[in-house]
Amino acid sequence: MASINGYQKGYKMELRAAIEGRRSIRKFKAKEIPRETIRDILAKARWAPSWGNTQLWEFYVLTGKRLDEFREANHRSFVDGQTFPPDVPMHEVWPERLKERYGELGKIMLTTMNVKRDDKDARKRLYEDMTLLFGAPCIVVACIPGDILVEYAMFDIGLIVQTICLLAHDRGIGTCIMAMAVRNPGLLRRILSIPEHRKIAIGIAMGYPDLDFPLNNFARKRADISEYVKWVQ
Ligand SMILES: Cc1cc2nc3c(=O)[nH]c(=O)nc-3n(C[C@H](O)[C@H](O)[C@H](O)COP(=O)(O)O)c2cc1C
Repeated sequence: MASINGYQKGYKMELRAAIEGRRSIRKFKAKEIPRETIRDILAKARWAPSWGNTQLWEFYVLTGKRLDEFREANHRSFVDGQTFPPDVPMHEVWPERLKERYGELGKIMLTTMNVKRDDKDARKRLYEDMTLLFGAPCIVVACIPGDILVEYAMFDIGLIVQTICLLAHDRGIGTCIMAMAVRNPGLLRRILSIPEHRKIAIGIAMGYPDLDFPLNNFARKRADISEYVKWVQ
């Protein structure tokens, strides 16, 4: 079969199944991911595009005892009500139309977990699970240079992060892109020895998914194409 740069006539791309099958995983098995597998995912992900091929990303892979140390301290600071300024600004207030979708996700997650909306303790436990990284045996922390326009750096980070998630999915490894993983940049900076001149952009929790867990199974929603595509001819 003729192949130019991997494009093959009549070749049915598994990529489509990977794109539709990837989903955020919110409970992981304790099983470690072999280092070689993580390495292979991150090595292949470098083929993601970036502005001017600048490849401005830098990743820190946190596993084992140091990850447990991070998990515990991150959880403790959340329970104690501590908040920290993130390296990359995060939205606190969402415009109405987006807030609706955000709220809908929250509602689906709570319903899936049989939690009533007014059950504040159960809701807090859900957030606590996030600070504990859903039990992931690995987090990959993505950093950007501090002297680059954040907007475009985050664009490039988004491209490679999705590539990482798809490559992981391809190997049966689940991921959850997590803003909550980087809510305490000082702690991460200390544990990972991240220099001051780099900004911590986002974390990816990674591990083998617990497929029986309800939050790894609920039906996800997406807007209809008519809501986000305008045709002009
Ligand atoms: C930038 C970014 C930050 C996210 N942060 C979190 C997070 O802190 N906690 C979480 O549970 N999910 C987080 N997610 C996952 C989203 O909630 C998820 O991608 C979205 O609901 C779509 O669901 P899906 O990934 O299962 O298709 C984040 C996703 C992105 C892209």
